[in-house]
Amino acid sequence: MERISSWLNRNSLYIALLAAWIAMCGSLYFSEVRGYAPCVLCWYQRILMYPLAGVIAIGLLRRDGNLPYYVLPFSLLGLGVSTYHYLLEKTDLFAGSSFCAQGASCTTQWINWFGFVTIPFLALTAFLLITLMSLIAMLNGEPVAEDEEGDALRTPWLQVSGVVVGVLAVFTALFISGAQDPQVAAAEQNPFATLAITPGAQVRVDGTISDPATGSDPATGSDPATGSDPATLVHGEQLYLQSCAACHGADGLGVANLGNQLRGSDFFASNTDEQLLGVVRQGRELNDPANTTGLVMPPSGGRPDLSDEDILAIIQYLRTP
Ligand code: HEC
Repeated sequence: MERISSWLNRNSLYIALLAAWIAMCGSLYFSEVRGYAPCVLCWYQRILMYPLAGVIAIGLLRRDGNLPYYVLPFSLLGLGVSTYHYLLEKTDLFAGSSFCAQGASCTTQWINWFGFVTIPFLALTAFLLITLMSLIAMLNGEPVAEDEEGDALRTPWLQVSGVVVGVLAVFTALFISGAQDPQVAAAEQNPFATLAITPGAQVRVDGTISDPATGSDPATGSDPATGSDPATLVHGEQLYLQSCAACHGADGLGVANLGNQLRGSDFFASNTDEQLLGVVRQGRELNDPANTTGLVMPPSGGRPDLSDEDILAIIQYLRTP
């Protein structure tokens, strides 16, 4: 126990360095290799995380005793943002928040490992680790510039470059294996041509919509031609606006660089409801042979909490003209 704590005291800032580099490379891997679109809150977390990769490295190399004081403002703010983002994804505490009215939705869960590990969760873990390690360093007066006899300590080139090169090597391997995938290359060469954007239409996180022309009036949800009951269509419309409209457009006709047309598309016409349910559940990675746009659709549209009935209701709603 004694030895573990003394090891931790001496190495806490190297652990923080490791966490910052893994977080930075991991987020670049998700966006640049896997093609997951970062939302507004993701960008704030990146702004707070990326500088730490440099600041911690330089502070360690300079043996700057103030290093924890430079790190903590960033890591504490980052901890706040990623906690908020995670609660936004997983709870209704902040329903109606006006964040992420534009671009990728902040509530889209691109990954959901073991049912709780999402990308903001990973960021939260990294910020928490960096905060705790900086606090430990602060209490111990690390980094120290001199040993007990007052002799200047050598610059820790080996330790710092070991961490940086190690993380870079792992992620370079991931980047190369992702980039060499022929289907990714094919998808990238396929420009996203057929798009229709509703001018001025905006979807807020609570699913309300600012464009009166898109049929958000529940009365228009009922369509005698499809034979579905009006309650299902209203339910489907609500869920569609909350979960899918950020990428597929409030009217289902697509949004540039986020998602393609669904309503009235050939794909919708040529698949049964059950087939479409399967497609939505699975999502489309970049290397999926069925991918036509070079953009990613997250599993279940990034809403793992939706039931089969929910998604079938969305499909019913999208089948209305
Ligand atoms: C983060 C953006 C995003 C969200 C959120 C999203 N989608 Fe998608 N979706 C896409 C993209 C991008 C594609 C096209 C992928 C491709 O090239 O095959 C797609 C494709 C699809 C397809 C296949 C269409 C076709 O022509 O191949 C269906 C069906 C679909 N989405 C339904 C949904 C539903 C239902 C929801 C809400 C529960 C949803 N999507 C949420 C981005 C998104």
